[in-house]
Amino acid sequence: MASTNSWMRQPFRMVHGIPMVSTFVPGWDQVDAFQSHPEDIVVATFPKSGTTWMCEVVDMILKGGDTEKCKDFIHNRVPMLELRVGETSFSGTELLPKMASPRIIKTHIPAHILPKSFWENHCKVIYLARNAKDVAVSYYHFDLMNKLHPHPGTWAEYLEKFMAGKVAYGSWYDHVKGYWARRKEHPILFLFYEDMKEDPQREIGKVVQFLQRELSPAVLDAIAHHTSFESMRDNPTTNYTSVPADLMDHHVSPFMRKGIAGDWKNHFTVAQSERFDEDYARKMAGTDLRFRTEL
Ligand code: PPS
Repeated sequence: MASTNSWMRQPFRMVHGIPMVSTFVPGWDQVDAFQSHPEDIVVATFPKSGTTWMCEVVDMILKGGDTEKCKDFIHNRVPMLELRVGETSFSGTELLPKMASPRIIKTHIPAHILPKSFWENHCKVIYLARNAKDVAVSYYHFDLMNKLHPHPGTWAEYLEKFMAGKVAYGSWYDHVKGYWARRKEHPILFLFYEDMKEDPQREIGKVVQFLQRELSPAVLDAIAHHTSFESMRDNPTTNYTSVPADLMDHHVSPFMRKGIAGDWKNHFTVAQSERFDEDYARKMAGTDLRFRTEL
């Protein structure tokens, strides 16, 4: 890889009105023009909602639960469409055209700016959502350790940015509402991180059904075990420890940090929580989308 200095801690740049990771922006024409296949399976999320977890689940399902077939770095098995860091060989739009169908594609792109081709081809989308408070906490720790993002500042400062949508990919509120609304006219399986924590077998079963696969209960159990937080934390293909330390510093905060529902209680003050809830009620008024903030 070339010198990383020019990519580190750069301010976000706007793409179609959304704050975006600076190094991704030069590749956005290719993202917009991306040609999907009808068999593509899209794993879409707002960042820090359990994306890596769902990517591993879907790849394991397609591989029939065979862990031997899931031994490559997760980005090579499930490329992130918009990711681009310096040399283009690692970018999603370079990797994906070389892959055989059915491809699994990771993205955080909001629904209204997802490449048109996915909607035109009626590609299956699995959307995993996580409650906003835990996402904010997870994202804060990620921005501390991930040098492709600007430094998040203090937790109090970061929380204000999160509420204002001044983080990569913009407003969590618009993101979840955007995919929630589209599920009425498009094949979107809308799942929740908290439900996955509560009963992984049940939720993985929903993915199996959505993808029209058949797996025995034993294989389902094996997938749930392989994709547990502990297994994925200790798995070098999913825990991002292979990313160079000058880009992701796991000593600051590991990518696989806690993997629980309700960690926000360890970070929000009472006043922050009350202010967040009031603002949340305003931003989420008029939607029937409901989240659990603890189990
Ligand atoms: S990213 O960078 O947006 O792709 O990150 P993403 O994978 O969406 O989210 C990372 C958070 O998900 C937690 N995680 C898990 N939780 C439970 N079970 C499994 N298997 C799992 N894998 C990842 C990870 O720990 C991050 O959450 P926090 O709260 O920071 O621990």
